[in-house]
Amino acid sequence: MMKKNYVSAVVEKMAPSGIRAFFDLVLGMKDVISLGVGEPDFVTPWNIRETGIFALEEGYTSYTSNKGLYKLRLYLNRFLHQRYGLDYSAEDEMLVTVGVSEGLDLAVRAIVNPGEQILIPQPSYVSYGPVVELAGGEPVYLPADEQGGFKITPGQIDKACTPKTKGILLNYPVNPTGATYTKKELEAIQRVCKKHDLVVICDEVYGDLTYDGEHVPYPSLPGARAHTIYLNGFSKAFAMTGWRLGYACGPKPIIAAMTKIHQYTILCAPIVSQMAACEALQAGKRGVEEMKREYRRRRDFMTESLNAIGLGCAKPQGAFYMFPCIAQSGLRSLEFASRLLKEHKVAVVPGVAFGLHYDNYVRMSYATNYEQLKIAVNHMALFMKKCRSFS
Ligand SMILES: Cc1ncc(COP(=O)(O)O)c(C=O)c1O
Repeated sequence: MMKKNYVSAVVEKMAPSGIRAFFDLVLGMKDVISLGVGEPDFVTPWNIRETGIFALEEGYTSYTSNKGLYKLRLYLNRFLHQRYGLDYSAEDEMLVTVGVSEGLDLAVRAIVNPGEQILIPQPSYVSYGPVVELAGGEPVYLPADEQGGFKITPGQIDKACTPKTKGILLNYPVNPTGATYTKKELEAIQRVCKKHDLVVICDEVYGDLTYDGEHVPYPSLPGARAHTIYLNGFSKAFAMTGWRLGYACGPKPIIAAMTKIHQYTILCAPIVSQMAACEALQAGKRGVEEMKREYRRRRDFMTESLNAIGLGCAKPQGAFYMFPCIAQSGLRSLEFASRLLKEHKVAVVPGVAFGLHYDNYVRMSYATNYEQLKIAVNHMALFMKKCRSFS
């Protein structure tokens, strides 16, 4: 037993991820249908895997440039231009990272001085708050409610800004709700961000998994590029979570600052993953569209089914999550998730993992095969019936 506590005060007070803590429970159980972790159930398309294997066979086992393979940055430049009309220089406005996770950490660390505030719309991805705290900043949460489609309003941002506010962490399509913003909504958000001179860190890792309408990248808005750090990666749309590859794009001084941290802490993203990512971009939408079609089919099924059994939710427009209201069960989110797991072997994530305001919700991922989803829905229908008959 260690007598002295060597752990830093910041880490000591940080709560472990609500998702992971819950899924440690799941690991110890058999035959559980997991609607929990946000990871595609597809393996990476074969052409991408094969390129990775071939890269290893060819002896690509070295470091790369800190910024990432030049070839990959050129492909990214072309991809972003063709897909979204974005224009980032491969030389000095782009950095290849270890997933969006690293990009997020670098972006926050590159801009935050001790005590500065970063706005975080909620419900939000679990790592945003801790990443800001680790950088010595102060997360300021802006809760969005169901009536507003779980989207924050420009008025909320305006009201939350103080002289200490440095930036905002914007994510859409949103994990955990699947909500996304229209161009008009984003323009209104951009006006207020500009008014307060905020740096916008936009996490668009689910951008290519948008089912209704077109995804509008934040830096494509007129006047937004100069104050935006755009984050994206290969984990979700290309089903490449384990390859750990992402990228950050932004104004040259910010990318230079992020690269400085990256070169001292990570050096570079893995070369095999970078080679495979070149193939992912070169092959275009092959494989990706097929997965997207299947996610859309599951989303439609889940929306209809959950509403029919008393777990009300709007149809998500992107990502692969549902965020239904559990009020009819009469349970709080942690109890709902624990009992559903113990009594019906279906794992979902309690809403409180995404913000304290969300105790009336749970997150379900439909990155699980269709047949399993059908069984899970049947189990949840029985569970809801049981809950209602007791309340
Ligand atoms: C909103 C959001 N951002 C970032 C990540 C992490 O992505 P990556 O695997 O690229 O690190 C996730 C993963 O679930 C996420 O949901």
